[in-house]
Amino acid sequence: MAELPGALGLAPEQVHQVLEAASLAPSVHNAQPWRFRVLPDRIELHPDPHRRLPATDPEDRELRLSCGAALFNLRMALQGMGVRPLVSMLPGQTAPGALAVVRRGGTIVPNAEQLALLRAIPRRRTNRKPFHEAPVDPRQRHALVRAAELERSWLHVISTPEERAQLKKFVHEAHEIQLHDQDVQAELASFTGHRPHASDGIPSASAGVRPALQDEWVFRDFQGPERLPGKDYESDPLVVVLCSFYDGPLGELQAGQAMQRVLLAATVRGLSASFLSQPVEVQRVREQLRRSLGGMLVPQTVLRLGYSTPVPPTPRRPVSELLLEPNDCRS
Ligand SMILES: Cc1cc2nc3c(=O)[nH]c(=O)nc-3n(C[C@H](O)[C@H](O)[C@H](O)COP(=O)(O)O)c2cc1C
Repeated sequence: MAELPGALGLAPEQVHQVLEAASLAPSVHNAQPWRFRVLPDRIELHPDPHRRLPATDPEDRELRLSCGAALFNLRMALQGMGVRPLVSMLPGQTAPGALAVVRRGGTIVPNAEQLALLRAIPRRRTNRKPFHEAPVDPRQRHALVRAAELERSWLHVISTPEERAQLKKFVHEAHEIQLHDQDVQAELASFTGHRPHASDGIPSASAGVRPALQDEWVFRDFQGPERLPGKDYESDPLVVVLCSFYDGPLGELQAGQAMQRVLLAATVRGLSASFLSQPVEVQRVREQLRRSLGGMLVPQTVLRLGYSTPVPPTPRRPVSELLLEPNDCRS
């Protein structure tokens, strides 16, 4: 097990807290595909090749979204400790294989918004339960749109009945395709169900109720309990498509940070969120979705937002398992 050194002027215990905050980010199937190399002058964020999902995410696009979310948490945690993070994304030869390198860019006194986002990190959860029928008011919606903009991304709010109908069709179409893809289903099964003491994956308490094809927004099946008769999903959640402005790893890392800022801003406002990723995971459907958004924006993830009752946290791997040795050249 690697021993954790101090870094960026922080003591080892503080670095531990920073990495713990990073590891609370969301990731597909809670695979937690990130690793960190800690050196006195920098913290590097690397993808974990053993935690790829080749069937669900063959290009590692969602892996980079997840790592972007971890990077956002890491930035917030550093700010909370008075360190202004200086981030180089895709640093190339200066840190081979790294998705990002974070250095100390001076000191900072975090403002109220940054502190609120930081405090929301351990409270944010994916909530697959039915939401209350209460609508999300325009001020809250605006705050989420702004959160994405601050991270150089775009939050497209699904607002017209036509758009809604079309996106629902994309979700159902992609869901059906994934249901018949044995490799995708095998990946899902390997992270789901009864896995006592697992430090990754989705425990049944977080699974939500079993989805049904007649649902308006059909969710992934994490083997949750059967639905009670008459208990249905909300009729009109806020549904948004988080987009980057360009294709490729940089846009994905930015979108991942934006996704996490949106999710934390939602948490601060008492909103719950879950994902509807099927239409961005099936390439053909993703292309249709992209065209439906005008062809310029790159759809990265789809979120459903609303008010709900709390759900328990999902497990995380300990920080000690996330460390790359200083001289480890694997990426
Ligand atoms: C890029 C991305 C896509 C995801 N897609 C889905 C999805 O389609 N359905 C779903 O139920 N959860 C989805 N999730 C949520 C993860 O399953 C969840 O983040 C993980 O289990 C950890 O739980 P937590 O978010 O409560 O911490 C996605 C997460 C990420 C980062």
